[in-house]
Amino acid sequence: MEKKTIRDLDVKGKTVLVRVDFNVPIEDGEITDDNRIRQALPTIEQLIDKQGKLVLFSHLGRIKSEEDKEGKSLRPVSEKLAEHLGRPVKFVPVTRGDELESAVGSLQVGEVLMVENTRFEDIDGKKESKNDPDLGRYWASLGDVFVNDAFGTAHRSHASNVGIANNMDEVAAGLLLEKEIKYLGDAVENPERPFIALMGGVKVSDKIGVLENLLQKADMVLIGGGMSYTFMRAQGLSTGNSVVEEDKLDLAKSLLEKAEGKLHLPLDFRAAKEFSNDAETRVTDYDDLRDDEEGLDIGPKTIEKYAELLQNAKTVVWNGPVGVFEFENFAKGTKGILSTLAELKDTNTILGGGDSAAAAIKFGYEDAIDHISTGGGASLEFLEGKTLPGIQCVDDL
Ligand code: 3PG
Repeated sequence: MEKKTIRDLDVKGKTVLVRVDFNVPIEDGEITDDNRIRQALPTIEQLIDKQGKLVLFSHLGRIKSEEDKEGKSLRPVSEKLAEHLGRPVKFVPVTRGDELESAVGSLQVGEVLMVENTRFEDIDGKKESKNDPDLGRYWASLGDVFVNDAFGTAHRSHASNVGIANNMDEVAAGLLLEKEIKYLGDAVENPERPFIALMGGVKVSDKIGVLENLLQKADMVLIGGGMSYTFMRAQGLSTGNSVVEEDKLDLAKSLLEKAEGKLHLPLDFRAAKEFSNDAETRVTDYDDLRDDEEGLDIGPKTIEKYAELLQNAKTVVWNGPVGVFEFENFAKGTKGILSTLAELKDTNTILGGGDSAAAAIKFGYEDAIDHISTGGGASLEFLEGKTLPGIQCVDDL
């Protein structure tokens, strides 16, 4: 279903409420990855060009108590946004009341205002996260039109996305939401084939729905990362000290059966006796992990085999790193996959967000991949084929 986007809106002189996902990592007051802010710029810039008055909403972290608010203000995020936009961004340190209402009321055409963390409303009765109807109605009353550009939050039905949308006559998608729907949606529903999915990450249990859906939709599924060992053990192989989900062995067996040869597992691993970058490493065949070793990365034969298989792909979706890439000595697999994807010509390469997206940015492959999703949980649910409330609440065209 095609959705209305900001290209279809006339916002001249109107107050435009925009939900962005600026849930970015902050350490000691410094934003350590501003990808989500940069990805929202096209929408914000286009709405400024169209002479709207912009009011931005976002959450940051999870807030249960007054203490949780420490370090979770959106003020530094508004400052980073101002830097990127090259224009001031006003910040209101509250989520409701006179100060907010008068700041919104005095906005001029082309000005941008950022509201404080929407989840500060969670302290008293989880009003944001439980989509309190009064809160959604109140926020909606501040503007004339609503734009949802928060793909990362689209799997949540909260007051600042679905709640506002339910109380607005006109709801459009921002350019980032549109781009995410196009890349991830086309990959799953209408991929150019061969379509290869590459799945990594620690747990099979986090990705059951995605694996089941992609095993139906993709021509091939390549497995890496921690989840490999559960599949190995399910086949009766020894996995040493590697992390195995004992309660998911039957599930792994049934996925292997259903896959009918579509599912490929690593041929070798880079293993160590300790979970540490400084541990001595050994490359081991898939059936040769010793009792005191744990696999921490895919090995060179696997990197080569996966590179070969990926050469034929026209669409690749990758979710989850294939090794502990945070440790330089176990990042070779993840880097190897990234460099293969970067070299593919005429192939649509898509990273499904989360840690694999962080790895691509960390190792400098951001521009070599066609689309790096800003969603973590949202991309997983989208790849599972679920309907996301944050997309559903946008007007159809
Ligand atoms: C994310 O980082 O995945 C989104 O911002 C959603 O955050 P949440 O899992 O805290 O709802």
